[in-house]
Amino acid sequence: LFWKFTIGMVLVVVLFGSINVILVHRIIFSSLEDELKHRGEFMSEIISQQATTHVLKGDIDALIVFIDEVKSLDTAIEYILVSDANGKVIAHTFDSVLPAELLDVHSGGQTNEVRTAYVNLKGVENVAIRDISVPLLDGSVGYLRLGITEEIISRTLGQATQTLLGMILILILISLLGTFIFSYLVTSPIKDISQIAENLNMQSIREKNVMFASRYPSRAGRLMKTLPGDEIDILVAKFNEMVFRLQQAYDELEVAQRKLVQSEKLASIGSLAAGVAHEVNNPLAGIMNCIARMKKNPENRKEAEKYLDLMEEATGKMETVIKNLLNFARKPDNSKTAIIIEPVVENALALASHRLKKNNIRITFDNHAEQRYFRANANQLEQVLLNLFINSADAIEEMMEKQPNLSGKLIVCSRPLDEGRRLLIEITDNGIGIPDENMNKILDPFFTTKAVGKGTGLGLSVSMNIIQEHGGDMEIVSQFRKGTTVRIILPGIL
Ligand SMILES: Nc1ncnc2c1ncn2[C@@H]1O[C@H](COP(=O)(O)OP(=O)(O)OP(=O)(O)O)[C@@H](O)[C@H]1O
Ligand SMILES: [Mg+2]
Repeated sequence: LFWKFTIGMVLVVVLFGSINVILVHRIIFSSLEDELKHRGEFMSEIISQQATTHVLKGDIDALIVFIDEVKSLDTAIEYILVSDANGKVIAHTFDSVLPAELLDVHSGGQTNEVRTAYVNLKGVENVAIRDISVPLLDGSVGYLRLGITEEIISRTLGQATQTLLGMILILILISLLGTFIFSYLVTSPIKDISQIAENLNMQSIREKNVMFASRYPSRAGRLMKTLPGDEIDILVAKFNEMVFRLQQAYDELEVAQRKLVQSEKLASIGSLAAGVAHEVNNPLAGIMNCIARMKKNPENRKEAEKYLDLMEEATGKMETVIKNLLNFARKPDNSKTAIIIEPVVENALALASHRLKKNNIRITFDNHAEQRYFRANANQLEQVLLNLFINSADAIEEMMEKQPNLSGKLIVCSRPLDEGRRLLIEITDNGIGIPDENMNKILDPFFTTKAVGKGTGLGLSVSMNIIQEHGGDMEIVSQFRKGTTVRIILPGIL
């Protein structure tokens, strides 16, 4: 914008300046020429009267003295010469010989009128000389010729041109300064805005360090703020408002996402409810059985002790199941701590255990990550793994409907990647697999192929969110009717 303004301004100034110079030139030239013409004619009329007297008297010496005197009185007079009726020069103001170029100035011979012609004299270069020829007594006595230099015209024109050019130069400088100030006031906030817009990405919003545009980026601000606001101020204010609202919207989105993660978690707890009830029910039935037997035979201390041990074991089991579930269900907490993967996988397997047992799924867990610590939120990772295990259980169940003798397999494998900088967790099942046409939809929220009430379609999308929030990635490879592998890569191994 600065260069466009500058070039535009300079072009305008130069164009108008040139037009001005030409017009002024013309006006000065024509008015000075008129003036010089009248002056020359007037002077030559007066001089010719006196000169006629001298010629008539035949006093050539007096004539010479007279014309020399007249010439010395006016610097505009370049020469005066007097010729007789035949055109022979009888007196002139030149110190030496009469210049030859003056002889045939008025072509067509002498006449009775006042005539004007232009002469270029040697030694008086670049300046035209107006030669006025006046007949003395209608030419019967002779002719007087007056050479008036037009130097004054060229001098005046030169001065005017110089002044105008100087003015144009000053105008160019002023317009440059003007465009500089203007473009500073207009373009610097726009530059600021575009720079901020360019750097405004998800990361800066997430880290809450979005920048706001300022109208006057430097110290000039305090002075300029005293001026009334204009459209650019409105633009800057609206932009800042937009950035602020974007940040606010992101904060709201973050809250909504956290709520979604929690709701998804509660939904999966709902789907586990039957299994959990079953797992609590079995030891409970055992306890009730023990109580019934002890009541039947209250005297038998030895038997009672055996039953009490069994009851203790059963309550222990119940406690573990409930503790696991409560741990998993606890309120969302985003903090990441140094954890190891093994207990996370074990807990998720425990939560899904009933669901996996129901379909006789064989579980293999190969942990090659040993005791490596990495930064993560254990509860959220548990949620991800539980989602994947339940998906696998569902897929295997669906496959079993088509192939009843299938023995379901779920393989969990964890190992370090990239020389121990990242952790890979791989979950493989031999379930129904995902048809190609669904591959790019499975991560969409609410996409499900499961019956109404069985799946919400949030499992994978929430899991993906959690993994990405950890700076990791989740990749799903599947072959329809063969099985599925989900690969999770997590950074941050300590
Ligand atoms: N291991 C898998 N094998 C086969 N298909 C799968 C597997 N995991 C996911 N899918 C397919 O992807 C879809 C979406 O999975 P997602 O976990 O997001 O939702 P859902 O399991 O249907 O419901 P929710 O998990 O909310 O109860 C599933 O409906 C299923 O069709
Ligand atoms: Mg699911």
